Amino acid sequence: MAVVAVELAGRSYEVLVGEDLLDSAAVHARRFIEPYGKRKVPVVADREARHHHGDRLAHSLATSGHEIAWFIVEPGEASKSWVGLQSLVDWLLDQGIARSDHVFALGGGVVGDLAGFACAILKRGCGFVQLPTTLLAQVDSSVGGKTAINTALGKNLVGAFHQPSLVLADLSTLSTLPARELRAGYAEILKYGILGDSVFFEWLEERGDAVLALEPEALEHAVTVSVSAKARIVAEDERETIGARALLNLGHTFGHALEAATGFSDRLLHGEAVALGMVLAARYSARMGFIAHGDAERITGLVDAAGLPAEIAALNLGCDGQSLVGYMLHDKKMDAGTLPFILLHEIGAAYLDRNVKLDDVSAFLDEQLKVH
Ligand code: GLY
Repeated sequence: MAVVAVELAGRSYEVLVGEDLLDSAAVHARRFIEPYGKRKVPVVADREARHHHGDRLAHSLATSGHEIAWFIVEPGEASKSWVGLQSLVDWLLDQGIARSDHVFALGGGVVGDLAGFACAILKRGCGFVQLPTTLLAQVDSSVGGKTAINTALGKNLVGAFHQPSLVLADLSTLSTLPARELRAGYAEILKYGILGDSVFFEWLEERGDAVLALEPEALEHAVTVSVSAKARIVAEDERETIGARALLNLGHTFGHALEAATGFSDRLLHGEAVALGMVLAARYSARMGFIAHGDAERITGLVDAAGLPAEIAALNLGCDGQSLVGYMLHDKKMDAGTLPFILLHEIGAAYLDRNVKLDDVSAFLDEQLKVH
């Protein structure tokens, strides 16, 4: 098991990464469970996560004499809604949650974001523990305190920064994840290599297959390196005000346009859009002369080798560069009329560029839409 510290003044916490952590959750999270005494411990769980992993968590809590009160969340982004938030908050109030209590969130990003936001506003902020069961949640969304719901105008438009008190990333939960979702989460692992760690990038070129095959040693290394990178960035720039945390948006501006063009549907999962978005950011960086074309193709090769989409033309979007740029203008990353792009100086060295010409991006995308 690896332990990664997220260092934040007065709100530091640990991320534990390892096999079978849910089976010993009562030990790792003892100080957050004990205060419940004879009350039931509230666990907000994705329906699938409850089905696959709920019993292990329940057995562990039973060893310390605790029972669980379950709040089940249906899988999918639609659960991150005002209505979903209201029913969760009402349920937590009904459970008699005090500000000093901790709510447990078992599932992927949807559950973590929803439960985290409910805890941010409940009694002006109660505690929570993240039990992420998807690769994407383990390496990204469960760490760093971004919580949110969606509204009719877009994803994650209403939320709060609210850090968890503990994250247990149980790697054994990943064996029940559909292969496509596993690959989508793996895209976020690639992201850490591309944006800030060329040694990790090279390691992924060698050992990426082993990570996707869930070989325990490789998987623990990849998740731990990713979480450590995220922890460093969050400690430096918790609220994304000085540019460091914005680097985590590598591939997300292009990716957002692709998700919008495919109706935020199952046609393109978020991680898949990020993977293709990173290819486009790399190729655009090469077009601008910032990195070698060969490096952009190394990134493309790594994305492709993981079975992730690497060519925009293959999506058959039926739209042009200008309409994709139009979607980008509705991105919440738009700031004071400019759209910041994360580009590359080299593999392992991303930077934030506020001077990208959108006409040029549109012409670049028109070229890419023709590449087969
Ligand atoms: N997922 C990007 C961030 O946490 O900042």
